[in-house]
Amino acid sequence: MVAVEQLIFNSIPSGKPIPGETLKKITKEVDLDAPLEEGSVVLKTKCLSWDPYLRGRMRDESKESYVPAFKLGEVIANFGVGEVLQSRNSQFKKGDNLYGSLDFATYQVLPKERADSLVVLENKENLPATLWVGCLGMPGQTAAWALQQVAHVKKGDTVFVTGAMGPVGQVTLGLCHALGARTIASAGSAEKVQYLRDVYKVDCAFNYKTEDAGEVLAKWNKENGPFTVLVDNVAGPQLDAALEHIARGGRIAAIGSIESYNGSAYGIRNVFQVVAKELKWEGFIILNHLTPEVLKKFYDEVPPLVANGSIPVKEAVTKGLDNGESFAALFDSENSNFGKAVISFE
Ligand SMILES: NC(=O)c1ccc[n+]([C@@H]2O[C@H](COP(=O)([O-])OP(=O)(O)OC[C@H]3O[C@@H](n4cnc5c(N)ncnc54)[C@H](OP(=O)(O)O)[C@@H]3O)[C@@H](O)[C@H]2O)c1
Repeated sequence: MVAVEQLIFNSIPSGKPIPGETLKKITKEVDLDAPLEEGSVVLKTKCLSWDPYLRGRMRDESKESYVPAFKLGEVIANFGVGEVLQSRNSQFKKGDNLYGSLDFATYQVLPKERADSLVVLENKENLPATLWVGCLGMPGQTAAWALQQVAHVKKGDTVFVTGAMGPVGQVTLGLCHALGARTIASAGSAEKVQYLRDVYKVDCAFNYKTEDAGEVLAKWNKENGPFTVLVDNVAGPQLDAALEHIARGGRIAAIGSIESYNGSAYGIRNVFQVVAKELKWEGFIILNHLTPEVLKKFYDEVPPLVANGSIPVKEAVTKGLDNGESFAALFDSENSNFGKAVISFE
């Protein structure tokens, strides 16, 4: 028997998630050597991703949304990487690293239907496992889709990205530079803004808490001509300012709205600019677009850029499971994750 740590969905939060209450760590004795059913695998978890959308899964099951609600009292799950300890699934062998939806648990026995949804991580570039759930996982794929399929960013564009120090922001900035586009980026602390300037070579980085987004954008436009694209991770007042200042014919990739994930949304006032400036404002859920062709293009293009440093990666790594403190940090305005939030078991 092995003492396996798990993180369970313990209670539905009414605002921000509360560590130890919303999520709770438990320990269970599990026999990892018990006979396996056909198609099952036993994994040792290597890493798990914390993503802001998980807050939306911590809701009453009766409320409809684009992703299923977590079940109260059950282990939560999200993207992760695990090493195969035992396999009765012909696709996988001992020692393979598998990527996909894993339980928040130190070890896991997955039945055939869940094992079949996993893929073997090739990792030709020999990068750390954590990267494959962040800049090289779902968030990175979101950034690539936003730039390539929604905003059609090209040389000559100026791209404004909000929430810029998260994984979506990081890959957005790296790809913009590879394309020859200029960048404006916002984040919520002086340290993050300095990092955006020094490491991501952002043309105009600012702290949205201490500077007025409208003033920053107006100044940029006056000196450089209007910015042409918004990669919107946050919504709220920064989106309102962007609608006012974006160029005629500008494109907005609506990715997320983290300012409202724990409460009511800010009321956007400048919606008429979509009409007046003939803007293209398009949202998407990346999981609905990840065909084998899309994934192949992403894995051909982006891991080499990460491996050669063209896309710098900053991670906020938590060692092992906590009581949800590292998840609550995603929404903590004073002490938020500085980089991609990930749990590592290595
Ligand atoms: N559409 C899709 O398919 C898709 C896929 C992936 C992600 N997303 C969305 O994309 C966005 C970015 O994802 P990510 O993984 O890169 O997340 P992330 O940046 O790691 O998200 C956490 C960060 O959000 C910022 N934040 C938290 N509360 C905020 C608030 N009230 N106002 C402004 N900023 C706030 C904080 O940064 P600061 O310190 O800078 O405030 C925090 O560090 C999220 O909205 C996410 O839900 C959508």
